[in-house]
Formats: sequence, C-alpha cells, structure tokens
Amino acid sequence: MTPAATKAAPSEDRRAAGPAVTKPVSPWDIKKLRRDFPALHQKIHGKPLIYLDNAATTQKPRPVIDAVTRFYELDNANVHRAIYELGERATQAYEAARQKVAAFINVPDWHSIVFTRGATEAINLVAYAWGRYSLGPGDEILVTEMEHHSNLIPWQLAARDTGATLRYVPLKENGTLQIEALDDVLTARTKLVAVVHKSNVLGTVNPVREIVQRARELGALVLLDGAQSVPHFQVNVQELDCDFLAFSGHKMLGPTGVGVLYGRPELLESMEPFQGGGEMISMVSMEQATWNDIPWKFEAGTPNIAQAVGLGAAIDYLEKLGMDRIEDYMHQLTDYARGVLSQLQGLTLYGQDSNSSSAIAFNLEGVHPHDLSQLLDQEGIAVRAGHHCAQPLTHRLGVSATTRASLYVYNTPDEIDRLAEGIERVRTFLGV
Ligand SMILES: Cc1ncc(COP(=O)(O)O)c(C=O)c1O
Repeated sequence: MTPAATKAAPSEDRRAAGPAVTKPVSPWDIKKLRRDFPALHQKIHGKPLIYLDNAATTQKPRPVIDAVTRFYELDNANVHRAIYELGERATQAYEAARQKVAAFINVPDWHSIVFTRGATEAINLVAYAWGRYSLGPGDEILVTEMEHHSNLIPWQLAARDTGATLRYVPLKENGTLQIEALDDVLTARTKLVAVVHKSNVLGTVNPVREIVQRARELGALVLLDGAQSVPHFQVNVQELDCDFLAFSGHKMLGPTGVGVLYGRPELLESMEPFQGGGEMISMVSMEQATWNDIPWKFEAGTPNIAQAVGLGAAIDYLEKLGMDRIEDYMHQLTDYARGVLSQLQGLTLYGQDSNSSSAIAFNLEGVHPHDLSQLLDQEGIAVRAGHHCAQPLTHRLGVSATTRASLYVYNTPDEIDRLAEGIERVRTFLGV
C-alpha cells in the first residue's frame, strides 16, 4: 500500500505554498486554562515546553492533583472493609468516582463500571474472564488493522488458547476502515468484534454504531476500545449499544493507574472472575469460594483508590469545559495543524480524513522519525516517534515508523506554529 497520505508541495516558505490557514480560537480562556496545568510551565533544553504527546498521556490539571493529594492527606484508608469514619470516607469517595464515570458515559447502572489499571487491563479482563470461557475452535474474533496492540495481543492470545480464529477488517488508502469488507469478515461465526473507536495514530473515528448494529444482527458481542474516544468527545454507551467499553484515566487528565471497563451488567454477571483475592469474594472455605456482586467481583485486592478519586476530578474538569466544545476545538486545531504542516517541504501526512482529529502522523523525507523527535525535543517540543503500539497499521501505511503530534485541550495554534518552525529548522540543519 502506498502511504495513505498527502505530500506537501516543495516550498521554502511553508505559508506561501498552500491556502491561508485560519488560527482557531479556543472556546475557553486558554491562558487561564493553561495556568491549571503546572507541568506545562517549564523549560526543556532552555525552551518553553510544547507538549504534543497527548495520545500517550495527558498532563494533569491542579484540581486533579489536589484531589489525589487531598485524598492521601485526609481520607486515606482501605475501601469497603473498614467500619470507621476514615474507611467510610475512602469508600464513599471511591464509589462516588464510579458513579461519576457511569454518568459521564451515560450508563444507567453504575454496577457495570469496573475500575481497572487502564484500558489494557480492561481489555485483558474481557479476553480472560469472557474469552477463555466462551470461545472455541470455529469461533471468530474480528478486529481491525488499526488496533492498538492493547486491543490486538489479548485477542491473539485468546485465539491461541481457545482455538478461535482472528480476522481483520482491512484499511483503505486514506486510513479509514473498509467497512464494506464487513460483508466478508463479519459472519455467523463471529463471537466478538473488538474495535478501536478512535485511532491513536491517525485520529480516525470509526463508524462503531454501524458495526454494533451489524454485529448484533449476527449475535456477536462488541467491545469498543475507547482509550482515545472517551477523552475527546461525548461517548454515550446507551446510544452506541456496545457490550464492553474500555478506557484509561490518564489520557483524559486523570492519574495513571486507573482505567475503566464498562460491561453490560448481565454479561458481567455471567462472566468468571478475572483475578482472585480479597474483595472479589462473598464466602470462602478452604475448598471453594463464591463471588462478590459486580463490579467488585472483578476488583480483586486493594484498588487504585486515590487514582479513581482523581479520575472523578478529571471528569468534573472535562465536564466544565464541555465535551462538545472539546470535540469542536480539537477538530479546529487539527485542521489548523494539518493546514500548516501540509505546507512544509518534504513532509508527508498520513490518514487524511475529515472525521479524524487530534492525532497527526507524519514523516519528514530523509529523516528517521526518531531523529526528528529527538531534534524537536531540543526545541522543547515533545512528539512521539515509532509505531505507536500499532505495528499492523504502520506496516499498512508502508513505513516502519512515523512521528506523531497529538493534541488536547491546552494546546494552541501558536504551539502548532512552533512545531512547524521546529520541523523547518530540523530540515535546514540536516540539509534534507
Ligand atoms: C487506542 C488505544 N487503546 C489502548 C491503549 C492502551 O492504554 P493504556 O496503556 O492506558 O492501558 C492506548 C494507549 O495509548 C490507545 O491509544
């Protein structure tokens, strides 16, 4: 496959070659908002930090940092077990965060929200607690060519262990799914469709509503990898009608170490436990045990209590900004970035789709992405280089690696200009 890409017209002056690009204005006071993020106000190699690796993890606003600190300073105790004031406060804070998550993704029953370590653990939970007991030879698991390894390797392992077969929805040149291929790859043998909602490499948003409907008609379950969608727009579980949704707190302003698995309650009820230990049991004898109710059946051991509380604070912060406004601003900023970057000489942008946003993958001719990323770091600009944990997708693009700039609520058009200037300087410096 040739790169699903546009190649910029050669030009010494990046603004001279293409159409005028209008700078978007953020729907919030961005200077004020940026003051909430302490990590943004530092110099890297003597230059102000420009953080453009938000698909990997986002920076944390003061209210999230404060919520975690306050929990440790005032409410710290283990949850569910203690019959004293502090333990009750910790439990209350932890369970309140669960209810906030449920409301955020429009889930009516908070019992269907399981706290995990992140999206990866959430997907593995399903692959083990559902997959190992429900799949067998002749069954098929359908994934796509644009999956993050977190939504691919667990299914490769499940297929290996159960004799099931893994099938792929292929990609088009422009980095979107060949949805018409569903006619071939989604069949009565498909037991699960595991699909990324929004690509971490190209920012592509997949037509998951249609995929869910088609899967339903054939009796297959659908797991959505929402690691990149939940932080970027309103994800409404009731509207999507998916069976599972996995996402991570740290990609939506929350702390690391906490993530979420939504599961249809009757499915969670019917599933075997994922891990054994404290919390997840009801009655235990030397020989056997019975399980706790959902969601605690899936939360063996002491959970990441402070991190869940921090995730609750992150949700408050995002809701104050408004998910619709976040989606809108991310689209505008992405369009601006594409406009500016597409005018740079020798720069190839991948996966140009009008519906994609926030993540822009590119390559500078004659420069390895790792070198580009390292030289941009000297300018204080943090971008990621590599396969972005999506090797089949990178391979499909016909390259071994790309550089990726990924945006979030605190990024500005001026930072995009700095990125473009940085790339120009690298080009001049290396003489390519
Ligand atoms: C699309 C997608 N899925 C899953 C993950 C895994 O998330 P985590 O490492 O937080 O478990 C990522 C992380 O980059 C991602 O972008």
